[in-house]
Parts: sequence; C-alpha cells; structure tokens
Amino acid sequence: MRVETVKWVNGKIRLIDQTLLPHSLKYLYCSDIKTLWDAIYTLRVRGAPAIGIAAGFGAVLAAKLSKARTYAQFKKDVIKEIRYLKSSRPTAINLFWALERMEKVLDLQKKKPVERIKKALLAEANRILKEDRVMCRKMGSFGSDLVKNNDRILTLCNAGALATSDYGTALGVVYTAKAKGKNIKVYACETRPLLQGARLTMWELLKNKIDATLICDSMAATLMRQKMVDKVFVGTDRIASNGDAANKIGTYNLAVLAKYHRIPFYVVAPSSSFDLRLKCGGDIPIEERRGDEVREVFGKKIAPINAKVYNPAFDVTPNDLITAIVTEKGIFRKPYIKSLRKLKG
Ligand code: MRU
Repeated sequence: MRVETVKWVNGKIRLIDQTLLPHSLKYLYCSDIKTLWDAIYTLRVRGAPAIGIAAGFGAVLAAKLSKARTYAQFKKDVIKEIRYLKSSRPTAINLFWALERMEKVLDLQKKKPVERIKKALLAEANRILKEDRVMCRKMGSFGSDLVKNNDRILTLCNAGALATSDYGTALGVVYTAKAKGKNIKVYACETRPLLQGARLTMWELLKNKIDATLICDSMAATLMRQKMVDKVFVGTDRIASNGDAANKIGTYNLAVLAKYHRIPFYVVAPSSSFDLRLKCGGDIPIEERRGDEVREVFGKKIAPINAKVYNPAFDVTPNDLITAIVTEKGIFRKPYIKSLRKLKG
C-alpha cells in the first residue's frame, strides 16, 4: 500500500491528517504558514522525517506568498517564516535540518531573480522528499538482514510510512523483511498519550497485511518475560554523537526491559536524524506538551480536570542500551562515539 504522507500539490502542501486515522483518511491542504505550524504542533503531520519534509515545503510556501521584488526583502520574508516553523516542535532534528537546507538555497541563489529562487526552493524541498524515500529503502535493506524468519518484533509509536515519505524506518525493516519472504509478527505498543501505535502503526500494518497485535504499553515486560519478543525496532527523533537517541516517550522503558531480558534493541534512523554537534542525549531538547493530552483521551476526560500532569513527549535511550543503529549508510555498533564519525562524510 502506497501512502503519500506529504506532497506539494497545485501550490499547496497536502498532508494526510493523521489525527483522523485510523477511522478516516483525509487530506489537509496548507496554503498559509500558520495552518502548517498548527498541523505540525497538533501532530496532523508527525514523525521526524515527515516533519522535516513538510517544513521544507513550508519554506516553499513562504516564498510563494512573499510579494517581495528585491532579494533582501524576499529573504527577510522567507527567513521570518522559517524561524516561525522552527518553533513548532523542538525535538526532531529533521525539522531544523530541512529548514537549514532551504536557507542554504536562499543564500546560494542570491544573485538570481526572485522567481528563479522560488523554483530552486521547490526543487530542494522535492529533493529532501526523494532522498528520504531512498534512505527508507536502504535502511529497510540493511535492517532486514538483522531479522530472522519467524521473528516477533516489538515496536513503539509510528516509525512507518506515515512518519516518512516512503515506508518508514523501523517499519521499513519489517516491510523489507516480509518482501524478502520472511515471516514476521509485530507487537505494536499503543503509545500513550496520543496513541500513535494504536491508531497509526496498527492501521499501516493491517493495510500492509502484516501479522500485527496491539498491546498496552504496560504489557511489554510481560511479553518479554513470556519469550514472545525476539527483537525491538524503534525510530528516533534525534541521535547525539555518542549514540544516545531521543524517541517517543516509553522507548527508554523498552530499552531497559530489552537489556534485562537479553533482547536486541535496534534504532533505525536516516542520517537526517543525527545531530553530531551534540555530545550526548542530555543536550537534546525534549518537548513538553499540554497536560490535557494526559488528562484526556481524544477529548474524553479520564482524570480530574485539575490533576497535575507531567507530559514529556520524548525520552532519551542511553547508547549502552542500543544493540545497533541502522542507517542508510549501514549498521553502526558500539562504541558509537567512534563508529558514528563515519556518518559525517
Ligand atoms: O510525536 P511524534 O508522533 O512525532 O513522535 C514520532 C516518533 O517518536 C517516531 O518514532 C520518530 O519520529 C521516528 S519516525 C521515523
């Protein structure tokens, strides 16, 4: 099943509205930057690579909406919106990586007429999308070599087609392994508070005819103890130079459990998810979200309205709990501080 999570269509950004899944597959068209900012913040578009791709098209939209005739004014208009988009979500480095690429195009093309720069920006945003597609395929290919026939894989959140421009990172490994003829079973953690596992991963896996079973996050330890899990595969929003990886809240729990039960724990990430400027996971900004996301489940109140809430959207898995990191350039192992240097080239 081919899913087009983000696309530039007739001068607008077309997104699958992921807040409506799994019950309704509808597109949201963004023709102004505020709508895109809201779509990123409210997780209508989510998943690190998809956020980066959407933001790249955001810079294209900002350029399209600018009425400026001089380069100086044009650049000012576009940079203002790029800064605004950067404020939408702090953790996924892909957002900043993609927008920095767009800024570079603005600088490199400064001698060209504004209309030409607009075209160059669109070409760059489409390149970001296409490169992501290629990276998904390569990660899938490397990662699927780690998977044996009849493996039972545990995953969290959604690191699939809905989070990328192709078939995902962690789920890309599952799809490739299946395409290679391996029989795979997946356990998807529901992923409280926003249920990306229950809503999105289950939707995707069922559409792709993968043998998938939904569990509550709190059931993972029991599955591992009952020897029902062979490997854990997850995505990431940002990896520091020592291999510490930020991902959806609950990932760290799974890594600790996997270590205790001697189950391999793999992180799958394109090079756009690495932030080699950061020394360690403690430097990764972790998004904290509204308390209502925990007090409620999709609008239905489940806790006293005055309950105090702590709602970090991501956690950091220390590198020593990660068996290997699968990228489009190959599989990296400990010590990451050394092995990840190769990614720079
Ligand atoms: O809050 P979300 O849904 O954007 O969080 C997404 C994740 O945590 C994914 O695992 C991560 O972005 C990797 S997606 C290939």
